[in-house]
Amino acid sequence: MLIFYLIGIAILLWLLHVYMTGGVCKIKKDLTGKVVFITGANTGIGKEAALQLGNMNATIIIACRDTIKGQQVLDQLNKITKAYLIQLDLSCFNSIKQCVEDFKKLKIPQIDILINNAGVMAPQTYKTTKQSYELQFGTNHLGHFLLTELLIPYLKAAEQSRVVNVSSLAHKQSNLDFQDINYAQYANSKLWSIKYSLLAYGNSKLCNILHAMEISKRHGIKACSLHPGAVRTELLREIVKNPLLNAFLILITPFKLLLFKSSLQGAQTTLQCALEDYDKLVDGGYYSDCKLKQPNIANKQLAEKLWEFSDEKLKPYLQK
Ligand SMILES: NC(=O)c1ccc[n+]([C@@H]2O[C@H](COP(=O)([O-])OP(=O)(O)OC[C@H]3O[C@@H](n4cnc5c(N)ncnc54)[C@H](OP(=O)(O)O)[C@@H]3O)[C@@H](O)[C@H]2O)c1
Ligand SMILES: *[C@@H]1O[C@H](CO)[C@@H](O)[C@H](O)[C@H]1NC(C)=O
Ligand SMILES: *[C@@H]1O[C@H](CO)[C@@H](O)[C@H](O)[C@H]1NC(C)=O
Repeated sequence: MLIFYLIGIAILLWLLHVYMTGGVCKIKKDLTGKVVFITGANTGIGKEAALQLGNMNATIIIACRDTIKGQQVLDQLNKITKAYLIQLDLSCFNSIKQCVEDFKKLKIPQIDILINNAGVMAPQTYKTTKQSYELQFGTNHLGHFLLTELLIPYLKAAEQSRVVNVSSLAHKQSNLDFQDINYAQYANSKLWSIKYSLLAYGNSKLCNILHAMEISKRHGIKACSLHPGAVRTELLREIVKNPLLNAFLILITPFKLLLFKSSLQGAQTTLQCALEDYDKLVDGGYYSDCKLKQPNIANKQLAEKLWEFSDEKLKPYLQK
């Protein structure tokens, strides 16, 4: 009797594992002549996506903050395709401008696929970007907004280009407040807690979806966003600085192996969005597990408002 229970439980766990790690991109293409620009590709989901697209012969530009880690990925890429590494710190507008200048020097005429993948999650203390925006909003959204805007001429130069934003299910935990986009009311006190840190992360990820929705309207370039799933990457590097949360995460390690995706599995929806036939790719769409899903709070008015807000803040950096 007990044996049957155990077998039953094992099968259930296995099915759960298959369900949680599911969503496989089945599309393979020869991307010879196509150019992919991807941020945060020195580790995690971005690295796997870059390698897979490299395997399909695309020219890959990896824009990374930590260029020592970036160089290791570049070495791997160089074995399979033409690839370049550019330094990029998305938490500094000047670095973003410099990155685009460095890209210009490569004399690559177009970008076919821009993947806004880099991201920071849940810092334990209130942190800001170089220009004093809350770290997650400033990096995940504003940084990618500026980068995308500066790369628009290259996206327009490609015949059928697209922007792919790596967002998150965490966007459902958000309360975007344009009056206090930086959560400044919690900044200088003990009020800053994991709760607000995660809310600010959710906000920045909602912004990625809204940004995608608005890109095509403004520029006539297709854009989509996605949730990669729960993936075992370095994304929790800020969270593990909290001893309590770290202990909890160590405790649940077996469950992470069971329920979390590997980086390669986590890259599947990014690949789906990058490789989907141009006519089939849903403009402004939000994907998860390689399928189109409905983000629950994103709407056109909010997307427009965020665009105008971001555009206004970035004006000095958007000029030539
Ligand atoms: N893992 C998950 O379960 C999960 C779930 C939902 C969404 N996501 C999203 O997936 C994306 C990729 O994350 P991941 O899971 O692969 O995490 P990861 O392993 O921590 O990778 C994050 C990447 O972002 C880069 N990055 C962070 N801050 C940056 C900055 N200021 N400038 C430039 N690059 C910066 C990191 O570069 P450095 O190494 O140089 O710091 C790293 O390459 C993120 O946008 C994340 O929000 C992940
Ligand atoms: C990449 O290019 C090589 C050489 O032209 C070709 O043999 C190979 O099939 C291509 N890879 C893919 C995935 O199409
Ligand atoms: C990607 O995110 C950026 C930053 O939030 C946003 O400006 C852009 O419109 C988004 N694009 C897509 C395709 O989601």
